[in-house]
Amino acid sequence: MADTAPPIAHTTTARTVRVEQPGGADQLRVVELPVGEPGPGQIRIRHTACGLNYIDVYQRSGLYPLPMPLSLGMEAAGVVEAVGEGVTHLKPGDRAAYASQPPGAYADARVMPATAVVRLPDDIDDETGAAMMLKGLTAQYLLKGTLPAGGLAAGDAVLFHAAAGGVGLIACQWARALGLQLIGTAGTDEKCRLALEHGASHAINYRREDFVARVKDITGGRGVKVVYDSVGADTYLRSLDCLQPFGLAVNFGNASGKVPPIDLGLLAAKGSLYATRPTLFTHIATRERTQAMADDLFAVVRSGQVRIPIAQRFALTEVADAHRALEARETTGCTVLLP
Ligand SMILES: NC(=O)c1ccc[n+]([C@@H]2O[C@H](COP(=O)([O-])OP(=O)(O)OC[C@H]3O[C@@H](n4cnc5c(N)ncnc54)[C@H](OP(=O)(O)O)[C@@H]3O)[C@@H](O)[C@H]2O)c1
Repeated sequence: MADTAPPIAHTTTARTVRVEQPGGADQLRVVELPVGEPGPGQIRIRHTACGLNYIDVYQRSGLYPLPMPLSLGMEAAGVVEAVGEGVTHLKPGDRAAYASQPPGAYADARVMPATAVVRLPDDIDDETGAAMMLKGLTAQYLLKGTLPAGGLAAGDAVLFHAAAGGVGLIACQWARALGLQLIGTAGTDEKCRLALEHGASHAINYRREDFVARVKDITGGRGVKVVYDSVGADTYLRSLDCLQPFGLAVNFGNASGKVPPIDLGLLAAKGSLYATRPTLFTHIATRERTQAMADDLFAVVRSGQVRIPIAQRFALTEVADAHRALEARETTGCTVLLP
């Protein structure tokens, strides 16, 4: 009898952070949802730590419209519990971490696509894994794959806005390891000090100083080869004025709002500039690229050249407080939510 009985589906429930409709942090609710078995190409993972990212705010607020109700969160670490058909790079019991769509990482456990999930090296702890995947892989593709014509060489100057944030403090350290002169901007003098401590060559308090004038001053009037701008609406047009001829304007976020449509002629007028608007999810679209980028991130972290700066920890149930702090510009470095 036992040989012919159908397998019993393992169904459990998990606390998951959901949004019923777009809005403020008060829309965040912790609910119990069923977690089933992984299908083909999927895994079930039990999280030990979840990463907080600004994209979670855009998805919660509706700036990035998504179907509702929405389970939130794009980054976490934990232990693989089960793997579906066709998944060969992970097995039950593996420690793993990811930056991945679809959202749903703010949870005790979930079923998700395996493509963007990688095994975590033994010497990288879970909180570090949860804090660094989305932000560290972003710093990786920006500094190594989002480059001006001719690339970047040691000694070249780049401008990086919000340099004391999650992506920012990782980028400061990685830029130093690459020999780049990273000029960072940040919203307080204390944040400027942090950016400098993490490897920025100069730091500008852009709430009090004219960052275009300061960049011109620092670079002897030449300007920088690349501006990495995740602040968006408040900074983008002035960022163009910081570039050398043929420089590259990278807008990769909207912390102050989306960049309004611009006249392409502006790029000609300001020196035959290049402009791009990349997203991590194009870069990690395949398993091979995800693994290669993660290996690069793991190597720089294990070398000690980049330390993942976890400056805030919140219980999963305190997720609304974490969102409020991020939006109020009260956080520095990375933030993790603990189930
Ligand atoms: N495209 C991609 O692939 C990709 C991937 C990851 C992240 N991102 C973007 O990169 C940026 C950094 O992400 P993160 O998660 O590490 O966040 P974060 O940098 O830790 O937090 C955002 C920071 O932006 C600055 N900011 C400037 N104006 C702001 C405003 N009006 N409201 C709120 N913050 C403002 C604040 O720093 P100051 O107080 O110092 O100004 C704030 O701390 C975000 O814009 C995010 O969307 C993009």
